[in-house]
Amino acid sequence: MANYGHFDDSNREYVITRPDTPLPWLNYFGQDEFFGMATQTAGGYTFWKDAKLRRLTRYRYNNNPMDNDGRFLYVKQGKSVWNPGWKPTRTKLDAFECRHGLGYSRITGKKDGIEVEQLMFIPPGENLEVWKISVRNKTKKPQKLSLFSYVEFCFFEALNDMTNYQRTYSIGEVEIEGSAIYHKTEYRERRNHYTLFGCTRKIDGYDTSRDAFVGVHHGLHDPKAVMAGKCTNSRAFGWNPVGAQQINLSLKPGQEETFAIVLAYVDQGDLPKFDSPMVMNKTKGREILARYSDMKVVDAAFNAVKERWESLLSIYQAPKVPNVHLQRMVNTWNQAQCMATFNLSRSASGYETGIGRGMGYRDSNQDILGFVHLLPARARQRILDIASTQLADGTCFHQYQPLTKKGNADIGGGFNDDPLWLILSTCAYIRETGDLTILNEPCGYADKPGSKDPLLHHIETSIQYTLNNRGPHALPLIGHADWNDCLNLNCHSKEPNESFQTAGDIAGSKAESVMIAGLFLYATRDLVKLYHFMGQTQDASRIQGHYDDMLKTVEEQAWDGAWYTRAFDAESKPIGSKVCKEGKIYIESQAWCVLGGAGQNNGRAKKALQAVDKYLYTPEHGCALQYPPYSTYHSELGEVSSYPPGYKENAGVFSHNNTWIHIGWTMFGEGEKALEYYLSICPSAKKDHDVYRSEPYVYAQMTASQFSPTPGEGKNSWLTGTGAWSFVVASQSILGVQPDYTGLRIDPCIPKKWKGFSVSRKFRGVTYSIEVTNPKSKSKGVKSLKIDGQKIAGNVIPLPTDGRTAVKVEVTLGA
Ligand code: GLC
Ligand code: GLC
Repeated sequence: MANYGHFDDSNREYVITRPDTPLPWLNYFGQDEFFGMATQTAGGYTFWKDAKLRRLTRYRYNNNPMDNDGRFLYVKQGKSVWNPGWKPTRTKLDAFECRHGLGYSRITGKKDGIEVEQLMFIPPGENLEVWKISVRNKTKKPQKLSLFSYVEFCFFEALNDMTNYQRTYSIGEVEIEGSAIYHKTEYRERRNHYTLFGCTRKIDGYDTSRDAFVGVHHGLHDPKAVMAGKCTNSRAFGWNPVGAQQINLSLKPGQEETFAIVLAYVDQGDLPKFDSPMVMNKTKGREILARYSDMKVVDAAFNAVKERWESLLSIYQAPKVPNVHLQRMVNTWNQAQCMATFNLSRSASGYETGIGRGMGYRDSNQDILGFVHLLPARARQRILDIASTQLADGTCFHQYQPLTKKGNADIGGGFNDDPLWLILSTCAYIRETGDLTILNEPCGYADKPGSKDPLLHHIETSIQYTLNNRGPHALPLIGHADWNDCLNLNCHSKEPNESFQTAGDIAGSKAESVMIAGLFLYATRDLVKLYHFMGQTQDASRIQGHYDDMLKTVEEQAWDGAWYTRAFDAESKPIGSKVCKEGKIYIESQAWCVLGGAGQNNGRAKKALQAVDKYLYTPEHGCALQYPPYSTYHSELGEVSSYPPGYKENAGVFSHNNTWIHIGWTMFGEGEKALEYYLSICPSAKKDHDVYRSEPYVYAQMTASQFSPTPGEGKNSWLTGTGAWSFVVASQSILGVQPDYTGLRIDPCIPKKWKGFSVSRKFRGVTYSIEVTNPKSKSKGVKSLKIDGQKIAGNVIPLPTDGRTAVKVEVTLGA
């Protein structure tokens, strides 16, 4: 079992100690409009707002070696050529370390007494990334070397960039000025932006033609110019423009040289575009480079990244948790993942190409659940943006492009769970902030130009959509799919060239989803509470009526004897039922019926969870999505049966849906089970990284299950709804600090042997220091709650009315 690194919890870093990790281990920079991803070997790319429409540097997915483009530094010393991040040359280093921190990565490589450190980050609010570079002579002799920087520019529109070479090979344009390389392809026509790749130190040469620097028949592992020890000062006309700078250094014993490289997206704004024909007005680029040429500015920018994260994380911290994995995830890495999923939805990662899905309707609504406490104002805007992609009849565009905020017509709508998630995100926002004004914000419908219908209208439309679209069992129609994008009961595809997601006819179809029914229960219950909070009791009872009806339907139509049926197909045959040969039990209907409050009075909810435990769960990997996996393709089921058994939706461990079961256990006070299940998918708790392969600090979308040939192999890290939901599980369900309409509700569910823990939570302007003790070794039940020494009844901390901004809360479990 190889060891690739370890957590440095006090610095909130993961330290990778050897570069050849089982898969590239990724980190993100940026929180606002400019983003970068970087692996431990400096692979990755950078974009402004939208990885499809404004990509600054190139990246080749599905490549071999995997992760071969990035932000590279080469050292040439005598005959030896190496990279501090090991790749692309893969020259053996004397020392290597990559520290992935929150919003930055620091790669340090050492060879023959020369140490090179590359610290990469995106300063808050800026549309640029900085590499702070330090070169150190650790020997007792003077040393001479050349350092080369390298990026390959992307022509902004990434899809065209990677497909339309008959055009792109003729449009590339650059300018060079001093230590700065300007990439300005298409600037002469409709673009008003360019890329700056500038060095704050005087350079000794440059290249902007890839053919000149790398060579047509060479590779990044042996670029011609580096091998020769000299850049050629090439100017790119067409073909593939790159940015490469040469810096010659003579270092005395012990000497360190520090400088920076800046990679910026520059919007020309109202400035004149040109100084003279073909010569771009570079005022803004010059200004940026001048600013960052002061290393104090660079250091201040880096401190700003760290301070910003510390300030965000101070909103929720649980410093004394008896389990180290839960503690570091909830305090640091899980929140970092929530930031990434909020910003990027499912667009750009090591597995999402940035040209594909953009922002997902259901995905982004769920991402808000784990993010809203960090930056509620941004969550608010996101909710309104998402709602604006809904149509007047309640249909939602399944995806939209982050730059344009316009729904993606190729995939369209008809994923019938989509509308309901808006209610969850909106209620989470209001519980966090108490801000009801969001409900009156006009956000209109995508197919009603100029419409100003408020958010509350969308919420009612969403409820109505489910009510209007029901099938023979009075259960909600599934449409193209529900949360399980691969349960395509109306697709019936026999044609390999069509998409499971869009093929087939949903009009007039009878296929129904029990998962949507459960989600409807959850959403309507949320909404009933919201209407009560608003003082609209009539609306509350109207919605309660819908809840009661749907609950009755679920109990009458969807109980299969020992668990909840998953769906009914287009012929009204049950899916996820004992009568099925394969796919007898699915996780999602157990989860959502339980979370929605079904089976509470008749013992079914507990039975449903026990069935999950019996058929789907293993402590090593978590819960498989269903059982038994489909061994053959079923056109009446669609994509779910297209995967080989044990992968993805065909009975893989799909981490996202596991989290709902964790919440389910806490509803029953099963603290041991909740934690055990939590740890079963927790990346930090994975023992054998050669088996798990994915990053140990963030959740992966999927782990190959017990039913697969490669059990325990994690895949598709970072951009998964598991991020948000795991934070909900750990912070709200296990540690039990729940934002509620009238105050913080305290309702932990922990293993009996935990003696207690503490949480510091900022909530609506007040900092709550919460100490939980568990003298009687219970899992659940608040026996007493003291607020600043005063005992109060119930388990909701009322909001202070006397201006107090710090409140001490003592909780004793054991009711
Ligand atoms: C490209 C197009 C071709 C067009 C030519 C001139 O080669 O493929 O259709 O005629 O450019 O614009
Ligand atoms: C992917 C999709 C998500 C879907 C899930 C299950 O993660 O982004 O929308 O719910 O797969 O199919």
